[in-house]
Order: sequence, then structure tokens, then C-alpha cells
Amino acid sequence: MQKRPEPGRDAIAPEPKRASASAPRKSSAAPPPPARLAKVQSIPEMRRLAEKAMPRAIFDFIDGAAETEVSRQRNRTQFDQWGFVHRVGKDVRSVDMSIELLGRTYSAPFGIGPTGLAGLAWPKAETLIAQGAEAANIPFCLSTVSSVRLEEVAENAGAGLWFQLYIFKDRGLSRELLRRARAAGYKSLVITVDCPTGGNRERDHKNGFTLPLRPTIRGAFDTLKRPRWIMRQLANGAPRPENMVEAAARAAQNAQGLVVFMSEQLDPSVTWTDIEEFVELWDGPVIIKGVLSTEDAKTALKTGAQGVVVSNHGGRQLDGAVSCLHVIERMREAVGGGPTILCDGGFRRGADVVKARALGADAVLMGRNTLYGVGAAGRPGVDHVIRLLKSEVERTLVLMGVSRISDLKHDHLMDMSKLPPAQPHAD
Ligand SMILES: Cc1cc2nc3c(=O)[nH]c(=O)nc-3n(C[C@H](O)[C@H](O)[C@H](O)COP(=O)(O)O)c2cc1C
Repeated sequence: MQKRPEPGRDAIAPEPKRASASAPRKSSAAPPPPARLAKVQSIPEMRRLAEKAMPRAIFDFIDGAAETEVSRQRNRTQFDQWGFVHRVGKDVRSVDMSIELLGRTYSAPFGIGPTGLAGLAWPKAETLIAQGAEAANIPFCLSTVSSVRLEEVAENAGAGLWFQLYIFKDRGLSRELLRRARAAGYKSLVITVDCPTGGNRERDHKNGFTLPLRPTIRGAFDTLKRPRWIMRQLANGAPRPENMVEAAARAAQNAQGLVVFMSEQLDPSVTWTDIEEFVELWDGPVIIKGVLSTEDAKTALKTGAQGVVVSNHGGRQLDGAVSCLHVIERMREAVGGGPTILCDGGFRRGADVVKARALGADAVLMGRNTLYGVGAAGRPGVDHVIRLLKSEVERTLVLMGVSRISDLKHDHLMDMSKLPPAQPHAD
């Protein structure tokens, strides 16, 4: 019988020994999940494991959102509007959920979106997540502010990755990042445009979240309850935005000022003219991330971009912003069938992904899910998250009577908000 974890301790199987600062081994095979992880049935369960494994301030940095967090909540409730209308009498012995996206065939209609400083969850998290995505043949997009250098991720996770770029005040820095990404073999570029300034994340303020971490007294006690997390961080060094270390040094910022440097680089003066310049600098597909308006989507396409990510940044930027499912249909109608429409925010179930596809999205990106997975258990946690989501998408399609993801139509959904409100009933 497995020994139960002590309360408050990491509720996961002991992690395999890893060489400290060295890069994770280049490997495409997904190792089998530790026994206790295999019992995790869903992303919400993985989130709870991650919550136990990480200090509160780190979990809140990942899990939290701006101000009232209403956009983050709506990112979950948006799916309730739509009910499935399944079809029967269809042969669904085999289901094809593969998609063509930005010149490659992927084996599922979802991928991993960019998340900065993932190393706070687990050392070298970006490499581990990229390897998991590559092994599962789904897209992976590296953040500008990754805690592993973009060259190192590319070297250890194979070709074909996507790179996310912020257009910083120091345009030379953004151009340099773009040049490095191309040289390292990144295939597609995602330009994030919804960060003219930082979001007001109150959980972070409350926790005194800074880098390097300087926890409050309560935070320090909380961190001490996670000795495995502490040991991993001590062995690997404090995570920092590695792609920007030289630029910060040039700007005479010390290590402590790196994150300040980065947030000060967010530029409220960026216009479509700047965006167009960066689209032109890339010689592969470009996607503009963080669009909610149909007018903006049309302008994005005029810059030469191939598509957009309909996104409210996981509710972390403009609190009160609508969620992607609220606008996805009119977005598809506005731009027509050709351009790529991705969307993100709150996708925790395979059924959520199926709804987005039926409403016109080509694919879905996910931010927090693999952060929960990696924070709970390292690479096996990543693989388990992807496995769960893939099998949920597949099962949903079988139950819907849909054998090819491309056969999903709006008719497979019903707008429940147009039905009379449910009456209380006896049971
Ligand atoms: C911890 C964290 C860091 C993020 N960092 C970035 C980033 O560096 N660049 C970016 O474009 N989006 C970033 N995002 C937003 C995600 O790409 C994505 O839009 C969002 O997480 C989707 O919502 P979900 O987490 O509910 O899936 C971040 C999100 C999280 C949770």
C-alpha cells in the first residue's frame, strides 16, 4: 500500500533524482506517471495537488488574476452557456482529432500557450512542458519572459516551437529576441498585444510577491511547509527572465531589478504600426495574441498576420474583459473561414475545447493547466495533464457522435441562455 502523505506535505510520489542545474534530458518519450499521479482524474484535481506542492505566493502568482478576478471566473462560466446536442447512429469506433495548424499536423485541437517565469513552479519548467507537448504532438509557445533561455528550450525540446514576443519600449531588445528565436529554430511567432501595462493582481500584492522572492512572515512559514519545493529551488537557483539578463545588465539593472526592468519595458505606446513592423520581420506565420474586438482582428490580419488568439490573458490583465467564447462566433463571421483563430482562457476540460471548436476556433491554448501539472510533479505532471485532456476531447467526440473534429458544427451546441431559467425542483 502507498504511504499517505503527511498533511501539508507535497501530496505526490517522490520525484526522480535530477541533476541540479543541467538541462532536462532530450527525450520524446513520455515516462509513465508515478502511481499516485495516475489517480488524478482531472485538471481541477491536478490544481489541488499543485496548490499543496507550491508555496502560497507561487500558487497565487500562477492561479490568480487581476482585481475582482471576474474575468477569470467568467473564463470558467462561459462554457455553461452552451449545451451539447449529441448525434446518434454514427460510427465512432475511431475518432480523428488531429488538426492542421500553421503548417503542421498536430494530434489534438489544443496546445500550450506562453507563461512567463514557469520556473517558479519547477526548475526548467518550460523545457519540461515543451518536451511534454512535443511528445504528445501538440503546439507549445515559449514566453518572452521564460525562466529558461529560448535557445536551451529549443535545443532540448525539438524543432517547430512557437515563440511569444512582447514589443518592449526598447525596440532593439524585441528585435534581438526575435532574431535569436529565428536563429534557434522557432517556427511561428505570437505577438502579445494586451499588455500596455501590467495587470493589477491583488493576490500578488497581498503575498508580497517579488523576485527574488522576499516572502512576508506568514509567507515564509508557508514556504517552510514545502521543503521539496525549497530544495529544488536551492539546487537550481532563483528563476529569472533568462532571455533578458544581458539587456537588463546593459541597462545597469542588477539581478533584483530584472523583473522591475521587464515590467517597465511594457509599452503603452505600441500601435498597429509597430505591430506591423514586427510581423514583417518574421519570415514564418505570425499570430496576434490578446484580441477581443472584431475590428482589431481585421486590423491584425491587415498587418500580414495569419491569425489571432482571442484572449483576455487568463483574466490577468483587464478585469471585466469578456471571455473568448463570448466573441468567438462573431470573430469567425467577421474574418471568414481562412484566417487562424485560436482562443484561450479557462479551458480545463476536453468538453470546453470541443465547444470552442464548434463555435469556430481552430484550436485552443492553455496556460495554467500544464503549470499545475509541472508544479505538482515535474514532467510526469505535464504528461498526465496532456493525457487527461486528450482523452477527454476524444471521449466527448465519441459521445457526441462525431468521428472527425472537423465535422463539429454549431448545430452540435444549443445556447442555454436562451432557454427559460431552471425552476427549483423537489429532489
Ligand atoms: C503564470 C502565467 C504567466 C503568463 N505569462 C504570459 C506571458 O509571458 N506572455 C503571454 O502572452 N501570456 C502570458 N500568460 C497568459 C497565457 O498565455 C494565457 O493567455 C492564459 O493563461 C490563458 O488562460 P488559462 O491559464 O486559464 O488557460 C500567462 C499566464 C499565466 C497563468
